[in-house]
Amino acid sequence: MRHCDAVTSGKPKTQDSRPKTQDVSPPDHPKAARADHEILDVIRFRWSPRAFDPTRDLGVDDLRRLFEAARWAPSSRNEQPWRFVVASRTRSSASFAALLASLNPTNQAWAAAAPVLVLAAVRLRHERDDLDNAHAWYDAGQAVAYLSLQATAMGLSTRQMQGFSPDAAAAACQVPAEFAPAVVFAVGYAGEPSSLASEKHRVAETAPRERRAIGDFVYEASWGRALS
Ligand SMILES: Cc1cc2nc3c(=O)[nH]c(=O)nc-3n(C[C@H](O)[C@H](O)[C@H](O)COP(=O)(O)O)c2cc1C
Repeated sequence: MRHCDAVTSGKPKTQDSRPKTQDVSPPDHPKAARADHEILDVIRFRWSPRAFDPTRDLGVDDLRRLFEAARWAPSSRNEQPWRFVVASRTRSSASFAALLASLNPTNQAWAAAAPVLVLAAVRLRHERDDLDNAHAWYDAGQAVAYLSLQATAMGLSTRQMQGFSPDAAAAACQVPAEFAPAVVFAVGYAGEPSSLASEKHRVAETAPRERRAIGDFVYEASWGRALS
């Protein structure tokens, strides 16, 4: 069984020749989550590369599928406060260059090879009553998470970035004042670690992914009491 049968079973397999998760993240891939409990393959095999293959672009259909996944994320009051501006290195090169320039130098060094950068922005006040939407950031995070998992199922990778200038990104993408830049993320096909200029980044590309143990962040009945 292919890793992503569970998430792609709605479509006939013969119509979709794109690489699936297992093509980029075989079970022994160093970045596969060393999960203590059974989880979905798209969660296990999602990871955030810095190396992107500069020769493989995304089609508009790929982008539509990614944002369709984001579309179905839940949000407070179903406000869907997220907005995305896509900057493609080939289709919207000026926007891509401007968004790339809004990143800090460390992020620019690797993100330049990604075929697509995306600015996620949030509407900070509710549309219906103009009250402060304290959950807008939370909601946008869920939308990006959905998109990231959809990307994994499609054999694509994402890496999110807080290392950018919100003002520069807003100017690059002409974001209206009622929206705030939340994150920039790169999306594309994972590339070769050797393509990265930084030795530290090359090493990180194959280093095991670390996480807290469940007992360190899940409590039962009251704070600090481990789930038994
Ligand atoms: C909100 C957010 C901001 C991040 N900012 C950066 C960043 O500026 N630069 C970077 O290289 N990675 C950034 N990352 C990627 C994280 O470092 C990465 O997700 C984390 O180390 C876990 O690795 P994994 O996604 O491969 O599991 C960011 C991730 C998130 C969710």
